[in-house]
Amino acid sequence: PTVGVEQIDPFLLVDEMGPITYAPGEAVGAPDHPHRGFETVTYVLQGEAQHEDSAGHRGTIGPGDVQWMTAGGGIVHSEEPSDAMKRDGGTMHGFQLWVNLPKRDKLMPPRYQEVKAAQLPKATTADGLAKVTVIAGEALGATARIETRTPIIYQHWVLEPGARVEQPVDAAMQGFAYVFKGTALVAGREVKDGQLALFSSGDSIELAATERAELLLLAGQPLNEPLARYGPFVMNTEDELVQAVRDFQAGRLGQIAR
Ligand code: CO
Repeated sequence: PTVGVEQIDPFLLVDEMGPITYAPGEAVGAPDHPHRGFETVTYVLQGEAQHEDSAGHRGTIGPGDVQWMTAGGGIVHSEEPSDAMKRDGGTMHGFQLWVNLPKRDKLMPPRYQEVKAAQLPKATTADGLAKVTVIAGEALGATARIETRTPIIYQHWVLEPGARVEQPVDAAMQGFAYVFKGTALVAGREVKDGQLALFSSGDSIELAATERAELLLLAGQPLNEPLARYGPFVMNTEDELVQAVRDFQAGRLGQIAR
């Protein structure tokens, strides 16, 4: 996640994509590449992303949509701006998260879950000042539609001035808040746009704001397993990494049918 922090178990990566505005013909993505041993989660705020993979999944996600891809034993996918964005340009803003899989699931069959913005559970506090979109876990009585392999909380909070909410976070989880608009108060501490606040122990977190702020709240049960990572592969041992590279080179992670 940042210099000196290899992971916040089970989260391997948090990438804020943009916001970046492309001129016509300028938008770039990530053409065919492999993954094994974890999950990639894409949440689009602005723009359009197009996905294709070797397991036959295809989808275009736009503002507010989520795609939760489980690479499991291996997949080749492409992540590109939509054809319309490549042609006409536009603004891209979103997040990609890498969620580690437990040892028992590292070689599971690939899986693809896509939930459009309108189908994502949302809730608002009684005073109307805090709104949440629930990608994983539960908040304000709204329960996620996406199924995760281990307990995960992934929520997008929009806080208006004066908002204050206490969100339960299982004491067995490790969690953090990433602010991407304005300044929020996380457990009473100021966290600014672009800053990540790592939680200490406890079974809830207080989110508040004196100005309009938006943040991601992420938490998960740590796997506490050995971590071996190399580029797009995340396994438990070096030998498993070598095997992943060999399997990819031999074409055993498949290819995208076109
Ligand atoms: Co990828």
